[in-house]
Amino acid sequence: MRSKILNILRERAPEPVSGEELAGCLGVSRTAIWKNIQALKEEGYKITAFTKKGYVLEDIPDKLLPVEIARKLKTKWLGHELHYVDSTGSTNAMCKNYANSGCADGTVCVAEEQTGGRGRLSRGWFSPAGKGLWFSLVLEPPFLPEEAPKCTLMAAVAVVKAVNSYKGVKAAIKWPNDILLDGKKLVGILTEMSAEFGHINYVIIGTGINVCVPRDMVPPELRESAISLADKAEEPINRVELLAKVLDNLEELYEIVLKQGFKPILAMWRTYSTTIGKMVKVIAPDSTYIGKALDINEEGILLVQKADGTIAEVLAGDVSIRAAHGKGSKY
Ligand code: BTN
Repeated sequence: MRSKILNILRERAPEPVSGEELAGCLGVSRTAIWKNIQALKEEGYKITAFTKKGYVLEDIPDKLLPVEIARKLKTKWLGHELHYVDSTGSTNAMCKNYANSGCADGTVCVAEEQTGGRGRLSRGWFSPAGKGLWFSLVLEPPFLPEEAPKCTLMAAVAVVKAVNSYKGVKAAIKWPNDILLDGKKLVGILTEMSAEFGHINYVIIGTGINVCVPRDMVPPELRESAISLADKAEEPINRVELLAKVLDNLEELYEIVLKQGFKPILAMWRTYSTTIGKMVKVIAPDSTYIGKALDINEEGILLVQKADGTIAEVLAGDVSIRAAHGKGSKY
């Protein structure tokens, strides 16, 4: 009922709509309307009641509310089951709980704040309230477990396309799943998987996008290496719209993979890559070396040519891009 009330108020704003008219349209009592208006106000909607005239919707909150996301979303299935909380430890953990209790393929969990945001390689992820997009989603791809990295590459393309749709933003993908803007980290993606031999139960793709994290809020050790979209974008960024763009893109890419295979995504990934063709330092679980990043293969494995000419296949680990003068950068 709340979303119906909102729709009517939205359509008529800035004109008022009387409680009586709302009650008549929705077939409920005026008291029920009043209660729902109070609940909407508590969610942050600015609704003013004018005596003898009715209610006017004056502003909507800057929150990732499911009704607002649903209005913007063009997807056929992705994000149609959506769970929103003000604060949680990690949206990946939240998604895992839903996945284990049998949620729909394409379920999305989103939070204003994460108190224990998780990054790759056991790092954390700084996720202050209202300053970014911290969300995870459940996919049940018909891939073999070893093909799961495809999900991360696909997500990276979906996100980079969405962030680059803002004027002044030209982000790039650093293998395997960092999105950099001006060489600094804008987005991190953490993919986790539940699988059995030869079968993926589900994959959780967790994405953190720094939208407008004030510099002085960023922990000092991350200040030089992190960036927010608002630092570069030459237009305002609405987080609901950004999330909807990412989900729209991801569903489109996923359906391309299901129909045509992974090649088209790989081609797109390459066009956004800041890694291919660069000298990189690879910190693999068992060794560290410098080489030239040649390409990624169909499995998402990075191919690096070492100084002795041999080609290493990098599956996991950390890769940093070497500056032209040979000194490493953080990213
Ligand atoms: C990285 O280390 O680059 C990956 C960071 C991933 C952060 C996102 S924020 C939403 C989701 N929930 C988490 O706990 N982590 C991911």
